[in-house]
Amino acid sequence: MFSRKSKPIVERCESDVNTRLRLKYAPYYRVVDLADGVNIVVEGRPMVMMSTNEYLGLSRHPKVVAAAKRALDQWGASACGSRLANGSRAYHVELEEALAAFLGKEACHVTSAGYLACVCSLSSLIQRGDVLLVDPSIHSSLWDGALLSGAKIERFAHEDMDSLAKTLEHLDPKQAKAIAVDGVYSMEGHIASLPRLCELAEQHRATLVVDDAHGFGVLGRDGRGVCDQLGVTERVDLIAGSFSKSLASTGGFVAGSKALIEYLRSSSRQIIFSAAISPAAAASALAALRVIQEEPQHRERLWANHRHLCGILDNLGLDYWQSPTPALPIVVGDKEKCYWMWKALWDEGFFTIMSIAPGVPPGKDMIRSAVTSLHTKEQLDRFGEALKIAMKKAGVKPRA
Ligand SMILES: Cc1ncc(COP(=O)(O)O)c(C=O)c1O
Repeated sequence: MFSRKSKPIVERCESDVNTRLRLKYAPYYRVVDLADGVNIVVEGRPMVMMSTNEYLGLSRHPKVVAAAKRALDQWGASACGSRLANGSRAYHVELEEALAAFLGKEACHVTSAGYLACVCSLSSLIQRGDVLLVDPSIHSSLWDGALLSGAKIERFAHEDMDSLAKTLEHLDPKQAKAIAVDGVYSMEGHIASLPRLCELAEQHRATLVVDDAHGFGVLGRDGRGVCDQLGVTERVDLIAGSFSKSLASTGGFVAGSKALIEYLRSSSRQIIFSAAISPAAAASALAALRVIQEEPQHRERLWANHRHLCGILDNLGLDYWQSPTPALPIVVGDKEKCYWMWKALWDEGFFTIMSIAPGVPPGKDMIRSAVTSLHTKEQLDRFGEALKIAMKKAGVKPRA
């Protein structure tokens, strides 16, 4: 009788189908009661975490934990204010200088979430009247920054440089424009074609913004990220990222020229109107940054595990888009099968995440798994066995 629009808002929320389905099947918001690296306990049952972004396993590294404790003792729990007003502290500047030097950029600004870093890298950089060209698979945080900016958004086909080139050719050469991509696509695990993106950006005088949340710490020299790996650091205008992956903390950064970072500091609402990253989060990110430079063994173990797990997925005939990064999608291609696959893995003691449309392109519903430096070969082998059982239960056939 009532259309969605005419329902009172609270009633509309109470009868929301997606929420009802989520609560009925309960694949999300599962509560972990104990966690020691990838060994977790859920509802009293030991499980193996196969979906974390803690690629280098540093959240319990003694140096990281000690740094966070020291920061709490020295600075308390929070700066209780925005950086612009009363929240700037010496530890923020120390972290920003260390990150800028590590990334090979002139300046850096840290925020209390990677989400904020990505939103702020677009929302005030580009403006109404500008054109922003985006790969549709960018993370929601870049999308939100794009939408907030008010710029005209042009999508090019995922990782299709001809499609981008054509879109650019149709624009007025005098038009102010930017291109936004993920360095590593978080769902697919693909690495962006940055050298070609840089060429096109330079040819068309477009500003290039890269979200390297998933490349930072694992790709490039000492983990400097995807731009370093592909030798394009100087050609990318802004690199944004998150501390909640390899740096095993919470927070984010945006790095670029001093002029651009100072511009963001005076114009980004996400920076101006949000409290500074907490002392413990900043200190653990800085400690993890030092660890990744001093202890290459974490990256070495990660890549050995990556090779091992990819071998298992290949043998099972699973489609993981040959992901060259620790983000390993297991493409099932159908929502229902995806649910049964996820459920069977859960029953076998493996914590994975089901990523379904519209979070991923329709028909590409997937189990989003990830490999870390902490997994043992034995855990990965057992995961392979669990996948075999799950494929059978969900009716997922090996690729021909
Ligand atoms: C590609 C990408 N960008 C940005 C973010 C946001 O980072 P954070 O979790 O630190 O807010 C994420 C987190 O999932 C991500 O995967």
